[in-house]
Amino acid sequence: MSTPRLNAAVIGCGGHAQGHFRMIAEEPRLRLAGVCDLDPERLARAVEEHGPVPGFQDYRRLLDEVELDVVHVVTMPGHLLPIVLEVLDRGLHVSVEKSPGMTSEETRQMAEAEAASKGRAIVSLNRRYFPEVLAVRRLVQERGGAVHVAATYNKPLIRIGTPDVPGSPDPLICDAIHHVDLIRWLAGQGMTAARPVAVHGEVADGGRATDHRHNAVVRFDTGAIGVLMSHYGVGFRIQRAEVHADDLSAYLELTRGRQVELYTAADAGEGMTRGEPVTDELDLEPVGGSDFDEVRHFTDCILEDRQPWSTLEDAVLTMRLCEAIRTGHRGPLS
Ligand SMILES: NC(=O)c1ccc[n+]([C@@H]2O[C@H](COP(=O)([O-])OP(=O)(O)OC[C@H]3O[C@@H](n4cnc5c(N)ncnc54)[C@H](O)[C@@H]3O)[C@@H](O)[C@H]2O)c1
Repeated sequence: MSTPRLNAAVIGCGGHAQGHFRMIAEEPRLRLAGVCDLDPERLARAVEEHGPVPGFQDYRRLLDEVELDVVHVVTMPGHLLPIVLEVLDRGLHVSVEKSPGMTSEETRQMAEAEAASKGRAIVSLNRRYFPEVLAVRRLVQERGGAVHVAATYNKPLIRIGTPDVPGSPDPLICDAIHHVDLIRWLAGQGMTAARPVAVHGEVADGGRATDHRHNAVVRFDTGAIGVLMSHYGVGFRIQRAEVHADDLSAYLELTRGRQVELYTAADAGEGMTRGEPVTDELDLEPVGGSDFDEVRHFTDCILEDRQPWSTLEDAVLTMRLCEAIRTGHRGPLS
């Protein structure tokens, strides 16, 4: 039986689209059938590097002229909404970059469009699909689920969220959303992310444009408690997370590459346990192997007619949590 091939296109051929081009090229069930960028130089480069493939400056012409199954929209968040709505209106599948819009309201509009479409949508919250994250999550679930999750997402001063980067919301929403979403994912059950039910946010911005600083404690519907620390305008780009379950702790270093420190505790008598580091390599095979990614997952979902793990509807919750943390919300979340 021959492998079904789906025709894929990329709209928005900037820096981050390179990852999408690579994942599409590595997925044998996809074929790159078109590219689009408003910027003629970027478009010409994409056609040259990833072609031969037709290139368009106007995404409507791409959608009119090329027979497509799935469209990756990799523009800045402020430019996503009309494109995603049009793609879904045409009944095509769509991969939506993070953040999925400028606000949770825009994400909700996209989710509504998906509900009325034949097409499915994945939000490309790629930390969820890191094999190491999936393997840790699986171990946590074998121990009854997370009791505590935490994430750090720090960077020096960046221009996201300023007029220098058109179409970008505040850094927490545009960027640190990765780890806001990661605590939801690590705290979740089955292949569902946990729903935040209450937040205590503390915001202490500095004096420069994007010196945005957040500390937040989140209570999830699964019973897990989450902590998010995200500070811009500090000394270095650091991305870490941790998750704890009964007799299990995992510390994830995601700054460059991915390393996991694992510890398990066993009965030590007299009502105590003793913890040890786990020296065995993390087993990635049960979660799809070391080259699993969101594009492979979404291709499976399209071909098997099922929902991906990061839907637009679910991303509305992550966006609302980002907004609550950014505004220093204290209390229940609806
Ligand atoms: N997952 C990650 O780790 C990660 C990392 C970096 C960026 N991103 C996300 O990827 C997205 C793109 O980031 P980037 O750094 O590549 O941005 P970028 O500005 O370099 O590229 C975006 C491209 O979209 C094009 N574009 C905008 N509107 C368009 C339209 N209507 N039609 C056609 N093309 C259009 C622009 O011309 C530009 O070339 C952002 O949403 C960002 O948040 C994700």
